[in-house]
Amino acid sequence: MLPAYLPNPVAALMGGGTPIDFGRTLSDGQRILGDGKTYRGLLCGVLAGIAVGLVQISLSNHFGWDLLPRHTLTSITLLSFGALLGDMGKSLIKRRLGKERGAKWPIADQYDLVIGAFVLMLIFDPSWLFAYVTLPILVIIIILTPILHRVVNIIGYVGGIKEVPW
Ligand code: CTP
Ligand code: MG
Repeated sequence: MLPAYLPNPVAALMGGGTPIDFGRTLSDGQRILGDGKTYRGLLCGVLAGIAVGLVQISLSNHFGWDLLPRHTLTSITLLSFGALLGDMGKSLIKRRLGKERGAKWPIADQYDLVIGAFVLMLIFDPSWLFAYVTLPILVIIIILTPILHRVVNIIGYVGGIKEVPW
């Protein structure tokens, strides 16, 4: 899951500049995505996710870690890009609900990346998903994700990278 978990914190660290929606609003008067979704964040985040995936692939080739999922360039790209697509999808819905950028939206804020990553994987590489994301693995992901999310966001807040600790 590292290629899916890394893009969000890297986007928070590196993001800024031109927003993906170019500042445009929809007929409800709200931004399409908002200033929290930028091209730089998207690009840096996806590249970071792919980079960590490539490290995982080369490590498992060197050490023959057969217990770990067999990642491919496809699987790490889908996890990484899917994570930030899920994040954007969440922002799109958040704006439609009238929630401002950075507003808290429990559950959605935590699981957007998992849903995005798995939906993309389901569309483009379902055999990978069903081979490795078994029920016990899914339960671990569901438990681990909000904990990691909380810890990383508190670190980001204390470190002055995030304006809010969620
Ligand atoms: N970020 C970015 N580009 C992205 C995703 C994130 O630049 N594609 C950066 C933004 O600086 C953003 C920060 O990472 O403020 C934290 O991301 P997130 O919590 O997802 O965004 P929010 O600002 O909370 O916006 P939203 O309410 O839309 O979730
Ligand atoms: Mg947020």
